[in-house]
Amino acid sequence: MCGIVGYIGHRDAYPVIIKGLERLEYRGYDSAGIALYDGNTVNLCKTKGKVEDLKKKSKLEISLNGNLGIGHTRWATHGVPNDINSHPHYSNSGDLVIIHNGIIENYESIKKELIKRGYTFESDTDTEVLVNLIEEVKSKENVMLGQAVQIALNEVVGAYAIAVFDKNKPDEIVVAKLGSPLAIGIGENEFFIASDASPFIEFTNNAVYLEDEEMAIVRLGKEIKLRKIKNDAVAYPNILELQMNIEEIEKGGFDHFMLKEIYEQPRAILDTYRGRLLAEQGIVKMAGIDQHLDKFLNANRIIIVACGTSWHAGLVAEYIFENLTRIPVEVEYASEFRYRNPVINKDDVVIAISQSGETADTLAAIKLAKENGAFVFGVCNVVGSSIARETHAGAYTHAGPEIGVASTKAFTTQITVLTLLALNLAKEKELFTDVQFREYLTELETIPAKVEKALESNSLIEIISDVYKDSTNCLYLGRGYNFPVALEGALKLKEISYIHAEGYPAAEMKHGPIALIDEQMPVFVIATNKGHYEKVVSNIQEIKSRKGKIIAIVTEGDEQVKELADHCIEIPETFESLTPLLTTIPLQLLSYHIAVMRNCNVDQPRNLAKSVTVE
Ligand code: AGP
Repeated sequence: MCGIVGYIGHRDAYPVIIKGLERLEYRGYDSAGIALYDGNTVNLCKTKGKVEDLKKKSKLEISLNGNLGIGHTRWATHGVPNDINSHPHYSNSGDLVIIHNGIIENYESIKKELIKRGYTFESDTDTEVLVNLIEEVKSKENVMLGQAVQIALNEVVGAYAIAVFDKNKPDEIVVAKLGSPLAIGIGENEFFIASDASPFIEFTNNAVYLEDEEMAIVRLGKEIKLRKIKNDAVAYPNILELQMNIEEIEKGGFDHFMLKEIYEQPRAILDTYRGRLLAEQGIVKMAGIDQHLDKFLNANRIIIVACGTSWHAGLVAEYIFENLTRIPVEVEYASEFRYRNPVINKDDVVIAISQSGETADTLAAIKLAKENGAFVFGVCNVVGSSIARETHAGAYTHAGPEIGVASTKAFTTQITVLTLLALNLAKEKELFTDVQFREYLTELETIPAKVEKALESNSLIEIISDVYKDSTNCLYLGRGYNFPVALEGALKLKEISYIHAEGYPAAEMKHGPIALIDEQMPVFVIATNKGHYEKVVSNIQEIKSRKGKIIAIVTEGDEQVKELADHCIEIPETFESLTPLLTTIPLQLLSYHIAVMRNCNVDQPRNLAKSVTVE
């Protein structure tokens, strides 16, 4: 939920950390801070607001020198967003300085104990408690910082990714991880610490992702040594060579990350099936799945757990899997699943879907499923993320970094991976003839070009957006495979334009929502020429007879709906089960343009963060 950055090496730490924080603002942006060690003293500056505010304040208030430093951009979990509660935090002596992403659940009891021992606290945060617990251990046990951190972390309950240094030993930074992500970038005689690789990818592609309950003393001139916090066992770092490059991260000429990512979908879908979909040979190859096909083939059922947009992708997958493989599927909100004492059997297969790979509710659902013996398969977009490492197996989407808080390319690439999986299983179960299977693979290969075609309606969509940008309520309707797309379209509009919107199965109109229809109510209807088209047309007629405004997503060449709707947006024809990959495109663009016209912060909507790593 927060972004952490640290640096130790030959460069000035300030510019590295500040730019790194800017790249991590999607993880949380209600306050920010930095601490630099200039060889004599620690210079610390922190503020409510964004990294931009921190840049202004730090230039006025502190010396920016030093080759050692840590920085933080926050999404508040304990203590309201203000200067005092911002990170970094000092220990009482002023010797230790810490940044933290996560939650220490038992911080109150620790704080009470520390107060009894004379500690005082400025902030309301759990993090300030942690740094003073480390100080207490360090002085009481008379140990070095690394050992003090290890002992202290064995006393806390919760999630953390921390970086802490001691001004009396400025050649090292101690890091530790449980439940929140932490990567170490390894450069030439320099180390970078960050919540993901974006702050250091321009300096090095070599990275180590700490596993849960691992810590490291990052010391100049030394190899990275990992240690298990619980039992002090030494763990050898798995150094990954990352392919992400800095261009992917910058906006690439678009006004917002979200628009860039909407337009990246043709390539993202292609990258996701590249090397996996071999239409000529008539095969689907998925390393993460091929060794576990038996688990799926013998599954009693598939349970899909996810949140938000990923949950909508799961709903699309339910239709795909049941139609193509005849394996029963249930889709669960991870936040409900983890607490409702669900029945989970060892011959269940659980699929966890998560763009960030860090969503706390989804992670908890995975752990519950594993405790009950289920095989858990992950679909994530971030290499080395917690969910990617917690699941028994998985398949990555290759969407590239998704920086915009509103998920777009993650949704279409998740559906792509899940379609490949379903096709793989259907073929194994001989539910497809070779010819049918090749036809399907060939059609899937046309999707990137068809998404490009759907994107060509952008100018028309901008005009339509201008008509409806001042609406206060909107309805989204879809049937079959496009019912989840209606839900997703409504979520997009809600989260970035702050207009209330509701997705509904089109046939459900007569069970209540039709009472809402009047001239003030725009209704976005997905009316492709597949799947009960005529029934959707009659739904449209019901809306029209009540003077509702109709914006229809239709298959190119449609004439019938065009006669009825106020606006029509065409998408290319494709297989019914592949239509969600196309029908979602106009709805993404609609929400984007309406939000821009309403001067909303499209990439960082109010109250939201890109990765919800706390409950
Ligand atoms: C989607 O636009 C939202 N930002 C949000 O619903 C998101 O999909 C949800 O928090 C799940 O995130 P994840 O895919 O990273 O697990």
